[in-house]
Amino acid sequence: MEAPGNAERTGRFALNLAENLDELRRRFDAAVAGANDEQALESVRIAFLGRNGDVTKVRRSIGTLPASQRRDAGKTINDAVAAMEGRLDEAHTTLQARAFESELAASIDVSFPGIPPNLGSIHPVRRVIEQSCAYFGAHGFAVVVGPEAEPDYYNFDALNIPSDHPARESFDSFWLNDTMLLRPHTSPMQIRTMQEHRPPIAIVAPGKCFRRDAVDARHLFQFHQVEGLLVAEGIHFGHLKGMLTGLCRELFGSDQRVRFRPSYFPFTEPSAEVDTTCPKCKGSNSPCNMCGGSGWIELGGSGMVHPNVLREVGYDPERYSGWAFGFGVERLALSRYEVDDIRRFVNSDPDFLTQLA
Ligand code: PHE
Repeated sequence: MEAPGNAERTGRFALNLAENLDELRRRFDAAVAGANDEQALESVRIAFLGRNGDVTKVRRSIGTLPASQRRDAGKTINDAVAAMEGRLDEAHTTLQARAFESELAASIDVSFPGIPPNLGSIHPVRRVIEQSCAYFGAHGFAVVVGPEAEPDYYNFDALNIPSDHPARESFDSFWLNDTMLLRPHTSPMQIRTMQEHRPPIAIVAPGKCFRRDAVDARHLFQFHQVEGLLVAEGIHFGHLKGMLTGLCRELFGSDQRVRFRPSYFPFTEPSAEVDTTCPKCKGSNSPCNMCGGSGWIELGGSGMVHPNVLREVGYDPERYSGWAFGFGVERLALSRYEVDDIRRFVNSDPDFLTQLA
């Protein structure tokens, strides 16, 4: 038999190469499809593309070709290899996704108790403010809020405390400049409200106050007050007594009593400090660590609005009268929750705060 010529030999090789590769490709695709894990996939790669793999063997046979044909044959094989590598990558990605899904499915135990979200709780100070406002709101009072930095006019002058008045000393304030200060009480809201409205006036004004007090178990330099003001015709001290007794019953229980001790505020006349029966010992006068055995807890100041204050806002004191009070909210909360130290309210300790929720 005559030996085949060069052209014929090359042509046959190209044909064989294509057939070989097609066949390899079919086997390869089937093997990849059958590989169920990474290890099996790696075995497929080694069997076809590894150093002694089938495709590598075909590549080696290129060496037997005439130099002029090697380039084309090489390219055909490279393309096939690139396609196969791409297929391996795809299979790899699919396997990984499948592994992740089955891991996920195995790790979800629908009977496992959930992790309760930490919702926090309403701060006791806010709770007392809300309860007080709700009580007054139910009696027709409006809730008003105002600025925490106020000119001295609202803090003092309009409240019948002129600049040379010794009562200014009792409000040891944080001054921002010659005339502005952080309000040491919520009483400026009396003036702001009366300036804007005609009687009858019925408001509660909760909010932050600031005084240069040394911090201890009973004092903070920033605290809250609830202010109340009622101005109309025929208002008398009995109205004040009734409303404050009602507030104390709302906050501390139905058997609370309220006591008024004569006191002095420039913006009320007469003026009184307000006490309520100790919510812990109920005024039994037994040894009590909340009231110190006195049976009473001090809540704040109150009184009948001074005629000078009514005049300052253009009200006729012959026609209108009113009462006002200002209670320390932290003081109310100390008694309400039987807390031993006022600083606990600002320490942001969730264990403490959630207990009072
Ligand atoms: N503003 C007064 C204080 O902070 C309390 C008070 C309010 C007294 C209203 C009388 C009337 O001490």
